[in-house]
Amino acid sequence: MSTYSLHDLDQIVIDSLASVDALGTTEEFRERENELEGKRSPFAILQKTLGSLDADGRREAGARLQNARAAVRSALDAKWIVLAKAERDATLERDRLDLGDTVVSAITWPAEAGHSGLVASTQRSLEDVFVGMGFTVADGPEVETDWYNFEALNIPPAHPARGMWDTFYVELGEPETVLLRTHTSPTQIHLMEHAVATNSLPIHSVMPGRCFRRDTPDARHLATFHQIEGLVVDRGISFADLAGVIETFTRAYFGPDIESRLRPAYFPFTEPSAEFEITCTICRGDGCRTCSQTGWIELGGCGMIDPAVFEAVGIDAGEWSGFAFGFGIDRCAQMRHQIADMRALIENDVRFLRQFA
Ligand code: DAH
Repeated sequence: MSTYSLHDLDQIVIDSLASVDALGTTEEFRERENELEGKRSPFAILQKTLGSLDADGRREAGARLQNARAAVRSALDAKWIVLAKAERDATLERDRLDLGDTVVSAITWPAEAGHSGLVASTQRSLEDVFVGMGFTVADGPEVETDWYNFEALNIPPAHPARGMWDTFYVELGEPETVLLRTHTSPTQIHLMEHAVATNSLPIHSVMPGRCFRRDTPDARHLATFHQIEGLVVDRGISFADLAGVIETFTRAYFGPDIESRLRPAYFPFTEPSAEFEITCTICRGDGCRTCSQTGWIELGGCGMIDPAVFEAVGIDAGEWSGFAFGFGIDRCAQMRHQIADMRALIENDVRFLRQFA
């Protein structure tokens, strides 16, 4: 056992305080604390020597020893605060979630730029084709009166042809029946009225827009869908001009290997009327579920403007003639991109949308 003398007490305290000051970790601290305060510490050993002193000497030496122990204790307490804090800070630093560039990019998705939906971009490409052919682009209201959607288009109330369009009515009857347009054809009426009012015939326009029908959606139909309407009113316009425009459009938009055909049909606002079909691009004409095994897909209708329509808007059918057509924009997107089920266009599944960025 080491021997200590009370004469060395001051030096022992100085050495003890220096050793406490030099501690670097809480682990070293615990060891040193034990050495300085345990049974084998210099102070405990010196304590045992007090018995050999007289009463005064014992009291005096006892007081010095107590002060020495108190000085060491407070040095230990102060050091503990520093060491424990340093270790806690180190742990926090190590465990901290680094929200800087590297870690964040590893736990989040990179920002993706948005883009137009397929229907919007299809509408724009269709407009481009028609603008290239000399047409202007016009817009019309989605909420219409019965007169624009039906009557002016030669479909009087109770006419059986109304059954061709399952209509969403907003307001029935007085003073006017208001409805969601079932096709873009009413915009023809707005355009012709405007041209008459401003004395600005002829008209060569296309009118894209959203339409609504009380239909149950299926692979080829949506209740909210888009059409593009075409209208030409000029002098000396014939059915050959109409057929030429349809054919030119089909090749320009779908490519030279897709055929178009016109089949006799009936629409109240055109006479004669035709249905405009193209080769089904899903099966290339072989027949599939999408084209009901016919190999053809109906895009829309067309025909020469019926004199009754000219009369409704005040255009002299003796001087002017014209044709009109209307077909589905969604259907064009479906055929151009071989989308078997049109409902994909409105489901907003990002895996579908991303393909058309
Ligand atoms: N509006 C008709 C429909 O939605 C399509 C149509 C047929 C438009 C003949 C026309 C046309 O302009 O002349 O079913």
